[in-house]
Amino acid sequence: MTTYETMASHLETERLILRPWDESDAAEFCALLAERGKGTPEVEHIRTCIAGFLTATASTGIALLPIQRRDEGDFIGYCGLIIGRTTLEEPEIAYELFQHAHGHGYATEAAGAVLRAAIATGRTRLWSTVGTWNAPSLRVLEKLGFERDRVSMEDSGEVAWLTRSLP
Ligand SMILES: CC(C)(COP(=O)(O)OP(=O)(O)OC[C@H]1O[C@@H](n2cnc3c(N)ncnc32)[C@H](O)[C@@H]1OP(=O)(O)O)[C@@H](O)C(=O)NCCC(=O)NCCS
Repeated sequence: MTTYETMASHLETERLILRPWDESDAAEFCALLAERGKGTPEVEHIRTCIAGFLTATASTGIALLPIQRRDEGDFIGYCGLIIGRTTLEEPEIAYELFQHAHGHGYATEAAGAVLRAAIATGRTRLWSTVGTWNAPSLRVLEKLGFERDRVSMEDSGEVAWLTRSLP
């Protein structure tokens, strides 16, 4: 069995810092999930989610990390690696940003740092699964060098599977 290095939990880019979750992220994370338009989760539920992320990372060595803007110091979303629909050996990259932060290249910048962190763990392939309607997310993946592998059908609609081999 191949073993991998633990993914770094502090990543820095020109404009962003990705760092571990803190309990104080709960209110902002709750506001982010509320933007999905399916209601506002209870803050208590969010605290449980954050604790779950930390426990998962402790056992898998991969992480979803909050994204903070360097200058403003504010939380704008998260980005990282998850098992999702794939595997710990070839995990998925995932990201979600506040609407007010869209359109500035932040997702591409954060995901680029996560890609480099994935390479540093020794992994050789990443995946992403995205609704085929999600043009902005597909564009982010294209900019990062992901290529479409296949499309599957789920109850929620068509899902594109994209993959990126790592050097
Ligand atoms: C997907 C998401 C993270 C992108 O964040 P972002 O910071 O705006 O992304 P970037 O600015 O780095 O890149 C977005 C790209 O999509 C393009 N884009 C935006 N809307 C588009 C549209 N409707 N059609 C085609 N391209 C579009 C942008 O022009 C940009 O490409 P460019 O640099 O070539 O101009 C953000 O839209 C989001 O959080 N969405 C909700 C959550 C989500 O869908 N997560 C992904 C689940 S798989």
